[in-house]
Amino acid sequence: MTINAQTLVSKDRWGEFKDFEFPQEALVLVDAKVKRLHSDVAAACRGQWTIPLRASEALKSLPALQYVAERSLGLSRQATVMAIGGGTVGDFAGVFAHLHKRGVRLVHVPSTLLAAVDSSVGGKAALNVATTKNALGVFHPAFESWICPELWTTLTEAQLREGRIEAFKTVLTSETHFRRWCQQQPNDVAIVKLARKLKNQIVSEDPFETTGRRAVLNFGHTLGHVIESVSNFRIPHGEAVGLGLLCALDVGVRLGHTPATLRALVESHIPQLPHARRRLAQALKKLSEKDLVRYVKHDKKGADERAVAMMLLRHPGTIAKASVPFEVLAKQLALWKDGRL
Ligand SMILES: NC(=O)c1ccc[n+]([C@@H]2O[C@H](COP(=O)([O-])OP(=O)(O)OC[C@H]3O[C@@H](n4cnc5c(N)ncnc54)[C@H](O)[C@@H]3O)[C@@H](O)[C@H]2O)c1
Repeated sequence: MTINAQTLVSKDRWGEFKDFEFPQEALVLVDAKVKRLHSDVAAACRGQWTIPLRASEALKSLPALQYVAERSLGLSRQATVMAIGGGTVGDFAGVFAHLHKRGVRLVHVPSTLLAAVDSSVGGKAALNVATTKNALGVFHPAFESWICPELWTTLTEAQLREGRIEAFKTVLTSETHFRRWCQQQPNDVAIVKLARKLKNQIVSEDPFETTGRRAVLNFGHTLGHVIESVSNFRIPHGEAVGLGLLCALDVGVRLGHTPATLRALVESHIPQLPHARRRLAQALKKLSEKDLVRYVKHDKKGADERAVAMMLLRHPGTIAKASVPFEVLAKQLALWKDGRL
């Protein structure tokens, strides 16, 4: 299977799930909850080679890979892996599809808003190792994505908010769209269309994250991943990214890269994250300076003995890499724990 800039750009088909047809030989990796909540999904799984999965960060693991690999040994190279679920099922299925018989076709059916705006676009898939997020990863683009908005009707308000936060992060890469968002936050379907378009554009310019262009999508993720890890994944990804955005804004202001007025503007438009500063303090309460440094060193965005590479916001639409000394992060950590900027 050839992976290049073209194949990494998502081919999207919008419609109701019941109107799509599974390919001839399919392995359906489906979030068990989605199968239970959506009768059309359950009906489509009948008569198919189906493995229901419990969605969580624990699924993104080597034992889970072993479990599914053992149950799919008879699957041919012509098969298609159908990933029906949120970002954890999608990431897991991406890694499995990459490795099974050296790579088979993958179709994403994102059932969370977060997966629809972000994880099912761009061809990245990863597993966690212990509490280190996405430590093992591959590029394995979906052959296509089926975008079925009716699947998102069973999401809670908190789950929807996570998707809006992840989309907002992508919108921060475009001044025009950021300013429009500040005037009026789009509805969820419009958010999905916009985030997929912007992400596809960025991915096509830097498919394998070699020039730095694609790295703008990591804005908020350095500390976001630390927050997920330190909570042992009890804080979900979208919320952690929202808190990570605050951290990246604060670090940007401290180093003179982000104007304080821009921080205030962005912070006031991060979608519905109530009491965010208090939540950040709570999330980091037990984190020592030493563990903070250890976590950021494990993150794959680049760290040396004294500094980590972080994406910082310079102007609306302009995000750039900067070297952030650990002592700066340590000073910020003390402020964050106190609920201060
Ligand atoms: N590969 C990438 O480029 C990329 C990008 C962003 C995020 N991610 C990854 O995505 C993951 C987060 O994704 P997520 O937030 O979708 O998590 P998730 O897949 O764990 O889903 C969250 C919860 O929603 C439930 N759920 C799923 N669909 C539902 C539906 N339609 N109705 C009701 N409940 C439903 C799940 O069962 C689960 O309990 C993280 O692991 C993150 O690292 C990957």
